Amino acid sequence: PRAPLVDRFGRVHRDLRISLTDRCSLRCTYCMPEQGNEWLAKTSILTLDEIERVARVAADAGVSTFRLTGGEPLLRPDIVEVVRRLAAIRRPDGSGVELAMTTNGIRLDEVLPDLIATGLSRLNISIDTIRRDRFHALTRRDRLPDVLRGIAAAAASPLRPLKLNAVAMRGVNDDELVELVAFAREQGAQMRFIEQMPLDAGHTWDRAQMVTREEILAALSARWTLDPIPGRGGAPAERWSIDGTADTVGIIASVTAPFCGDCDRLRLTADGQLRNCLFSTSEYDLLPVLRAGGEDDAATVGGVLRACVAGKLPGHAIDDPSFLQPVRGMNAIGG
Ligand code: GTP
Ligand code: 5AD
Ligand code: SF4
Repeated sequence: PRAPLVDRFGRVHRDLRISLTDRCSLRCTYCMPEQGNEWLAKTSILTLDEIERVARVAADAGVSTFRLTGGEPLLRPDIVEVVRRLAAIRRPDGSGVELAMTTNGIRLDEVLPDLIATGLSRLNISIDTIRRDRFHALTRRDRLPDVLRGIAAAAASPLRPLKLNAVAMRGVNDDELVELVAFAREQGAQMRFIEQMPLDAGHTWDRAQMVTREEILAALSARWTLDPIPGRGGAPAERWSIDGTADTVGIIASVTAPFCGDCDRLRLTADGQLRNCLFSTSEYDLLPVLRAGGEDDAATVGGVLRACVAGKLPGHAIDDPSFLQPVRGMNAIGG
């Protein structure tokens, strides 16, 4: 076993989010322009073998959770193979890894049996609204029925906890929060509301427009009694139980209640760049070492991993007047 990935502030990194593609089957207005982005060059996209190499080195250095993201990870043609290879990785003590995915749910019903058979452990599905007209306007695609089929398939599967994500947006879905929670409960899922972060395509994010944790809590508390659940660990979401039942709701308040002090995450982009923060302005390039033909991944790939961890700042600086939004959009960072 190699030394764990500890940064200058004592944070141990155990979670690697792996973006498999920057492409997506939706065009959410807050994420991408109508015509899509300028996509990453095909030749720079990591291959199945390259992803596996990075994941193996990370697991050797103490990473225990991989989360597949995008864009939309299910658009990757070899997605089942990616899951098979990553789920098979063993940690130095011989135990397995957790392999999760964040998806928009489209086509999930078709591939879920294969994903489960090859070792996927957990799913988070994004659904900002359950009203078809709103969904169409927000995502620029009339595909709510496809997403609902994906959610139904996940709900019928043994994967738990199942989480549904909604970015809370003023004038878009902020009148729908109670409905979304009720919908999630019917599916045996946990609804989570996310404060919108300055990672939007148009760079038009406005702190004053953002629906805050406090507002979300107020809207839900008007309907239910919420009791905070302790024991968050390094997780972004705070959780509450609903009316004393086993059902829960979560809020991810990256802006008004940052959790950077407990951050245990690293990110790998589809084109082989390591990032130590959603908001980092620098990236650590793995492509040269992955494509140089060397053998000693622990030293080469591991060296880039360690440099990335060593360069991590104490937290984001969204509220700082000098804050600059990263050049890459959310679809290329993976959330
Ligand atoms: P769990 O392991 O199920 O808790 O997953 P998750 O909530 O970390 O992942 P998911 O992909 O579902 O992300 C939900 C929201 O949390 C998205 O808006 C992410 O951008 C955000 N998020 C995830 N990780 C971080 C993080 O380290 N920092 C910040 N600020 N936001 C994060
Ligand atoms: N702020 C917060 N969450 C965002 N997501 C996409 N863009 C933003 C943003 N600017 C969410 C997606 C998905 C998750 C991976 O990140 O809606 O649920
Ligand atoms: Fe970690 Fe950056 Fe998210 Fe803070 S904003 S929790 S440092 S990824």
